[in-house]
Amino acid sequence: MERMELIVERPNKQIFRRGDEKVKCFAEGVPAGDVLSEALNQALAQEAGLPVPPLREVTKHDGRWAIISEFIEGETLLAQMQARPGDESLMVRFVALQMQVHAAQNFKLRRQKDKLHRQISASGLDATTRYELHVRLDAMPDHQKVCHGDFVPSNVVVRGTRAFIIDWAHITQGCAAADAANTHITLCKQSHFALAEQYLKCYCEQSDTALQYIRRWLPIVAGAHLAGCLPGDRAFYQGYCDGVV
Ligand SMILES: Nc1ncnc2c1ncn2[C@@H]1O[C@H](COP(=O)(O)OP(=O)(O)O)[C@@H](O)[C@H]1O
Ligand SMILES: [Mg+2]
Repeated sequence: MERMELIVERPNKQIFRRGDEKVKCFAEGVPAGDVLSEALNQALAQEAGLPVPPLREVTKHDGRWAIISEFIEGETLLAQMQARPGDESLMVRFVALQMQVHAAQNFKLRRQKDKLHRQISASGLDATTRYELHVRLDAMPDHQKVCHGDFVPSNVVVRGTRAFIIDWAHITQGCAAADAANTHITLCKQSHFALAEQYLKCYCEQSDTALQYIRRWLPIVAGAHLAGCLPGDRAFYQGYCDGVV
């Protein structure tokens, strides 16, 4: 058997390279449903014709669940952006990839609105704020575009002219602007403030979307992140919801 080389370690998972395979090993106690649903989401993205590292198998490794995909030799778009801070073509490429995702469809995917409503209900926000967010969400259009749900430059692995999108655990079908709002919030959460601003400007221009429309989504998407977030992250997401009423 080939050697397992640790790439990333997180509280509930480890990511290894084994030859030409990426092995995502989940911690003991991670429910099988979560692992199988992440693998299913990756398969559905692949089925929608998107550039996804091909899924190889879902298995148990040393008694822990693991998802095995093809390993992509390359670097993340985030690494490239950090190495070449003035290079706008990287952001243009990032946004073009996200728009390619939004142009795809797969009716087997979960619905974004259902997921957001459920998360807002479980957000721990006061009833008045939750009511406002539910009403705002209901008033949004019913689109069926594929939304990655965690589209950030560290989830794009580039090899030459090809780019692969990874980490499909949060994929849904719904409104592209909600996905763009999520990218902005997540970049800020990771303290990439300059990239977050550059992203918003570039996304609005390339997709011909009004900035105000994305701003309307910010408290809805941030409020949804409050469901099950780490205690230390609450103040960050709650900041977007203060003053919506
Ligand atoms: N198929 C792959 N090929 C090459 N590198 C990968 C692959 N999948 C993940 N990685 C590397 O591992 C990192 C974390 O993987 P990811 O699936 O995004 O996990 P997380 O859920 O922790 O963000 C990525 O940022 C990337 O550097
Ligand atoms: Mg990731």
